[in-house]
Amino acid sequence: MRIPLIAGNWKMHKTVAEAEAFCTQLKEAVAGVSGVEVLVCPAFIALAPVAKVLKDSDIKLGAQNMYWEEKGAFTGEISPVMLKEIGCHYVILGHSERRQFFGETDDGVNKKAKVAFEHGLVPIICVGEHLEQREAGETNNVVAGQVRAALEGLAQEQVQKLVIAYEPIWAIGTGKTASDEDAQEVIGLIRNLVAEMFGSDAAQMTRIQYGGSVKPGNTAGLMAQPDIDGALVGGASLEVESFMGIVKAAK
Ligand code: PGA
Repeated sequence: MRIPLIAGNWKMHKTVAEAEAFCTQLKEAVAGVSGVEVLVCPAFIALAPVAKVLKDSDIKLGAQNMYWEEKGAFTGEISPVMLKEIGCHYVILGHSERRQFFGETDDGVNKKAKVAFEHGLVPIICVGEHLEQREAGETNNVVAGQVRAALEGLAQEQVQKLVIAYEPIWAIGTGKTASDEDAQEVIGLIRNLVAEMFGSDAAQMTRIQYGGSVKPGNTAGLMAQPDIDGALVGGASLEVESFMGIVKAAK
């Protein structure tokens, strides 16, 4: 049984004080909610303070990126050891904004995913096509290529714990969501590919989220699809009310 994961990707939003205030409120709002896993992914500097606020709650903490080395001369980077020490459970890898603005590649995402697992972090690997690729009928090829490359060389036990987020780039921050059926089609294809690579038992355990303009109003339809196991939420994760609307609709 795959428990849906609702993850808030705050991107470059919220100061430390704002992040603490949000999580204090969220903790109260989430108390008593079961059947769905809730995750927040603040900016790096807010991770440690937020970890303190979330202590004694079921809300999980995740980072938005990391580097693949444990330590060393890598100015500006954050290591998996550092994330683990402050209580991160998840790390988002290969978000389309990282690929677009910061030169992340499939190969880098693959290296990071392996290292994340070595350090006890669960990667959330993001994949998704551009609008031109969708219009040219290339969606399935593009996404399959990203998934193959990112999962290359992982172990079956790792893939069982892994989270993949299918985020069509044209749906991120645009207010345009993929239809429930289109999202299911691509996510079903991802699950088949994981089964081909790692066996169907592993593929039945991998959680695959949808991301891209998820809101309280469109969550239930997406979550009703057989292969969609939660959402990676940007804009609507920044207010407790809308984030909770999504959490409740995902149950
Ligand atoms: P959005 O962002 O919900 O604002 O579209 C999703 C994401 O980038 O993860």
